[in-house]
Amino acid sequence: MAIIINKEDKTYTLVTKNTMYQMKVDELGVLEHTYYGAKMEYMDMHYGVECKFGTSFSPNPADYPKGEWAYSYNGLHQEMSCAGIGDFRLTAMGVRHSDGSFGVEPRFVSARAEKGKYALKDLPSFYGEEADTLVVTLKDNTNDVYFHLYYGVFEDYDLITRSIVVENKTGKSIKLEKAMTLTLDLPCGSYDMLYFHGRHTRERMLERTSIKHAETTVASMRGASSHMENPFAIICDKNANEDYGSAWGIGIVYSGNFQISASKNLQEKTRVVAGINPENFSFEVEPNGTFTCPEVAMVYSDSGFAKMSNSFHHAIRNNLCRGKFKNAVRPVLINNWEGTYFDFNADKLVSMAHEAKKMGVELFVMDDGWFGKRDNDRCALGDWIPNENKLQGTLPELARRINEEGMKFGIWFEPECISEDSDLYRAHPDYAFAMPNRAPQVSRNQYVLDFSRKEVVDNIYNQMVKVLDSANISYVKWDFNRHITDIYSVALPADKQGEVYHRYMLGVYDLLERITSRYPDILFESCSGGGGRFDMGMLYYMPQVWTSDNSDAIDRLKIQYGTSFAYPVSAMGAHVSVCPNHQNARVTPLKTRGNVAYFGTYGLELDVTKMTDEEKAEISRQIKEFKQYYELIQRGDYYRLISPFTPQESLYCAWEAVKPDGSEALVCAVRYETDASTAPEYVKLKGLCPNKLYRVNGSERKYLGAALMNIGILMEYDFFEYPSRLYHITLA
Ligand code: DGJ
Repeated sequence: MAIIINKEDKTYTLVTKNTMYQMKVDELGVLEHTYYGAKMEYMDMHYGVECKFGTSFSPNPADYPKGEWAYSYNGLHQEMSCAGIGDFRLTAMGVRHSDGSFGVEPRFVSARAEKGKYALKDLPSFYGEEADTLVVTLKDNTNDVYFHLYYGVFEDYDLITRSIVVENKTGKSIKLEKAMTLTLDLPCGSYDMLYFHGRHTRERMLERTSIKHAETTVASMRGASSHMENPFAIICDKNANEDYGSAWGIGIVYSGNFQISASKNLQEKTRVVAGINPENFSFEVEPNGTFTCPEVAMVYSDSGFAKMSNSFHHAIRNNLCRGKFKNAVRPVLINNWEGTYFDFNADKLVSMAHEAKKMGVELFVMDDGWFGKRDNDRCALGDWIPNENKLQGTLPELARRINEEGMKFGIWFEPECISEDSDLYRAHPDYAFAMPNRAPQVSRNQYVLDFSRKEVVDNIYNQMVKVLDSANISYVKWDFNRHITDIYSVALPADKQGEVYHRYMLGVYDLLERITSRYPDILFESCSGGGGRFDMGMLYYMPQVWTSDNSDAIDRLKIQYGTSFAYPVSAMGAHVSVCPNHQNARVTPLKTRGNVAYFGTYGLELDVTKMTDEEKAEISRQIKEFKQYYELIQRGDYYRLISPFTPQESLYCAWEAVKPDGSEALVCAVRYETDASTAPEYVKLKGLCPNKLYRVNGSERKYLGAALMNIGILMEYDFFEYPSRLYHITLA
């Protein structure tokens, strides 16, 4: 078991292959956080957080040990922050009691360890029989409010998960005004934060900032994790890089409003909190009721970002994604969106499927526009009835025609939205979020359905089931093309409106759970205007995500590189599209478009009937090559070799997939800048066996692994824009 309970020291220690996490019950019964870092032999680590000075102007608990003048909540490393009683740092939990007082003063009650990973009611979470669970129960020192702290320990992946279940035993209703899962008090020192911001068609751009006394926050209030911020951040040493330094990766397994904040306190100590964004959040917990906080997943690495990323990648692939596709070879798909947009009929789609099949494509996806009278984005969301004029027959007939071409058939839905011009809206205008007496905001001509209401979720569920039962459908793309405004549910009283954002997410997860479990043979791909909901919550239900609506191979370098810090290649939807590119008009070689898409799920998104024979031959070659490297790319270790965020240092972006035993690797290097007098550049590899000999692309010459990692491979100079090369490294 990966949990050490030491009754004498009153410590609870979580141990993974390379890391260690410890908490200790102190003399007041406060659960202190004593350590999270590199693994070592067991000891009581409390000395590392004892601090008898520097709590300037901070109060002491009413029952503090006399003489310990510096014992203050404001200086303690706490496992779950208190609130309202003298901790002036960032707080995670906040409770408004029935008498109107606001306070949380958690004290230890009990702890137990269990085999297997806990599960969360109605929320996504990592899972696994091989993991261990520690449950520590704390109780407010004054009121009968209990906090059950859940810890999941995945030894092999150095992954530690956390959640909190709040239980109300006061006999009266209480209100949670803050329900952030994570409090993490780091050891003394100075740290940076890496986070991934962006916008539509420009998701997960890497930024790095130092954590100072002013709060650093990444957050979303869009009702979705969003393109603008991602619910993932890395706290690290100031000099940490891919291979060096302490790094704590923190991801929230949640797809709605979130917040990750960090700041230094007056003792120069850093606290991090993460969880549901407290803005416009409050949740009533009835007597004997509970509230479950979304899971937070953490990986510590003592040697930089690459190790941390690989832990997340393996854990997400194996213990977060579910269903038969999580580790299966996924079909190469073609999606008609950029090929036709709304302008298609069945004959057009079948002709595309016919051509694509000849190149080796296995799945045809019919995107937006197949239902109601949807020939543009101004109508029909909510009416999931096939347009038989456009489909020139029924949906099952179209599926059959595609199947007869030797292709599987997939379909697009946007279950959470509704057009004003739809039968559903005409019948139930109250199904859409809108505030009383205030006209709701329109975005992409649509509103968001009130999924906090079960009858609304049921309506969409029944419509989807009717469609999915009617035809031979092997794939579903689940889209969400606007963010939530006008949050208000007609089904809840005025004093419960602060619950709607979270209840909305519970409704989305409920629908996802019901649909994905009813159709285990369907491959689901998440999407939100591209990568607007690329998060661990969605990956629990759908093993791949359309990474971005930007399909330009050069812009994709930054997008996929940024995404890779938390999320595995197997989750990144990546397609080859037409040139000039539809998002930025850039012209890139077809080969480069393919090479970049290999480090994702690889598919096509263009009108294949308009391709030249030469282009078709190149796509056939790519599909064969992608399949040849599939296992290595999708299941290997992943290394970022040269960053596209530092053009001043290199003209190239490079990344690498390596078999975990170092016996084979594939490097992709793309030149995204050009220079008339180019200096020679070497790309240094990672993850090889230093003392073994390798060949590069079957070369006569043999290279020592250590040489490939310390000297690198010389980049050939190709005299055109945006060239790329693959380097296949095999044992000699
Ligand atoms: C946004 C998605 O990201 C696109 O791929 C496409 O499905 C459109 N929505 C359809 O409306």
